[in-house]
Amino acid sequence: MRYASRVQQIAGKASTAWDMHMVANQKRARGEPAILMTVGDTDFASPTPAIAAVHESLARGRTYYTPSAGGLPMREAIARRHAHQTGQRTDADQVVVTVGAQNALLTAALCLIEPGDQVLVPEPMYLTYPGTIAAAGGVTVSVRSPANNRFHPLINELEAAIGPRTRAIFLATPNNPTGAVYTMEELSGIAALCQKYDLWLVSDEVYGDLVYDGRHVSPCTLPGMSARTITINSLSKSHAMAGWRLGWMIGPPELAQCAGQLAYCSTYGIPTFLQDAAVVALDHFPDGLPELQAAYRRRRDRFCERLEAVHLLSCRRPEGGMFVMLDTRASGLSAYDFAMGLVVEEGVATLPADDFGESATGYLRINLGVPDTEIDEAALRLVRYAERLGRHRAAS
Ligand SMILES: Cc1ncc(COP(=O)(O)O)c(C=O)c1O
Repeated sequence: MRYASRVQQIAGKASTAWDMHMVANQKRARGEPAILMTVGDTDFASPTPAIAAVHESLARGRTYYTPSAGGLPMREAIARRHAHQTGQRTDADQVVVTVGAQNALLTAALCLIEPGDQVLVPEPMYLTYPGTIAAAGGVTVSVRSPANNRFHPLINELEAAIGPRTRAIFLATPNNPTGAVYTMEELSGIAALCQKYDLWLVSDEVYGDLVYDGRHVSPCTLPGMSARTITINSLSKSHAMAGWRLGWMIGPPELAQCAGQLAYCSTYGIPTFLQDAAVVALDHFPDGLPELQAAYRRRRDRFCERLEAVHLLSCRRPEGGMFVMLDTRASGLSAYDFAMGLVVEEGVATLPADDFGESATGYLRINLGVPDTEIDEAALRLVRYAERLGRHRAAS
């Protein structure tokens, strides 16, 4: 049978990153202790008021259809929260509810990109971006954000990559995997490019409430940018509600109309009782869960402190987000081999970050969404493993 070529285009290169995850799971199945720091999930429970709201909503029989773009109460709650965080007037008709931020990314791509259009993305980038852009017929043009620039974008290189088919810039601040929180100066530079070359900016802000150094800036607040920015967010990271699949996009009303039209022929809306819970979560915790933010900051500091003394490793304290980037290049191993040895010998599963982009070659991405006890134990095992590698190297 034949399949549309689109499916081939979105498949992306085969990722080996999940090999570590599988090894750790096999270890667990054999009853051996393993610590999984690969997937961007969290040990935090979803907020109790949101869980109670689902029960209540179901008990009230709230199981019927809502408008495809989202019911008015949820769109109003999102607009309220956005206005609270950005200081910008935001109306419900600028908001479209989506199935997590991922569905918002795809919806944005489908609304903006014609086949053959190019989208600039600073790399390292979240792994779904190239497939998402390709699903809309677009071509991802990645632009490096080098490690020696703290994985921050280089505005002159972004500008040099702009061509006649460039249609948009996609970015995530704070970034996954690097944790870079883009500065006002960098975002102003990107905003200037968008205006000079008439580009859209798709701003993925799912980690916007998880900032430890610096300040999160929503690019839609920069002069002239609200008309050409799509702000994407969700409850997945900030509210520990990843499995609920509650996300949204905010942009000019005409964009929201286009996105609503897509929702009409794709998701046809999201469950009414989950929308009710989203309103409760957003109104109770407009800036995310404070205990989750405090825990990630504490874990980041504890983990990196322990690894800072290790000769072969260099730990990069993330400015935001939920991942530590660990530079393993001095070990002489590829990130894959380092990570494979670590999981086989010490049962700690991490993600080689090379797949996120060339600038991340030789780095591991390590998830902070595991309990403090596991953070401490993982640091201990990593130190032991790296010291063993160091002794082997010295002996050979
Ligand atoms: C940068 C980034 N954007 C989007 C997503 C997808 O988020 P959601 O669970 O809301 O679809 C993730 C998930 O890890 C992410 O890291």
